[in-house]
Amino acid sequence: MAWRHLDQGRVGELPLDLYERDGEYQVRVDGQELMSSLCHASEEALADLAAAAVPAPAPRVLVAGLGLGYTLAALVRRLGGAAVEVVEKSPDVLRWYRLHFREKVLRGADDGAVRFREADAVDVLRAGTGGWDLVVLDVDNGPEPLAGEGNRWLYEAAGLAAIRARLRPGGALLVWSGFRSEPFEARAREAGYAVSSVEIPLTRPGVAHHLYLCALPR
Ligand SMILES: C[S@@+](CC[C@H](N)C(=O)[O-])C[C@H]1O[C@@H](n2cnc3c(N)ncnc32)[C@H](O)[C@@H]1O
Repeated sequence: MAWRHLDQGRVGELPLDLYERDGEYQVRVDGQELMSSLCHASEEALADLAAAAVPAPAPRVLVAGLGLGYTLAALVRRLGGAAVEVVEKSPDVLRWYRLHFREKVLRGADDGAVRFREADAVDVLRAGTGGWDLVVLDVDNGPEPLAGEGNRWLYEAAGLAAIRARLRPGGALLVWSGFRSEPFEARAREAGYAVSSVEIPLTRPGVAHHLYLCALPR
């Protein structure tokens, strides 16, 4: 059965298309797959890393990039008392979450206390006041962006320094990436983070997602 085109939207200047097939969803940006409900093991693993990284009972967490909401749902389940804020650039992604994905991804968990903002993570992290215990950077395919050239800044020295300035001592930046990036690892170390990573193998041999935990000293 072929994917059925359900809706179209935008992220910044780029076109987004939502497809459905047998109850599964896929979002393509400019014709390329950006996210899918078929593959979300790494979002669960990311929430486990987050829980280990922020032992405080009521951490302040910024999730940059909503997507289908798997990362958010996993974080809400694992970080019970956290104050979670989501910044998502695309109004269409926010709309699709409520319309199509919310019930599916939450599976009974509660996102009632989550604050959702339509905003560009670049603006929020460049100029915001911060005070986060954890920033989860899940805006794109990783340090080589698909969803907007402007996202590159977030993974470069200037962005990493700006995020560091928005984190509390002992806080952490968690980065989802569709691939390993040694240049990114080097830049994060240079910016003062202790960097570790977890590889999540996919069913296709030789392909893996990478999660980067970039921790600050207490
Ligand atoms: C790869 S998807 C996230 C998928 C997510 N892991 C999930 O659970 O479905 C990236 C999301 O970030 C959003 N995005 C891209 N650039 C952004 C930016 N600069 N600021 C905020 N959101 C952004 C996209 O619209 C998309 O919803």
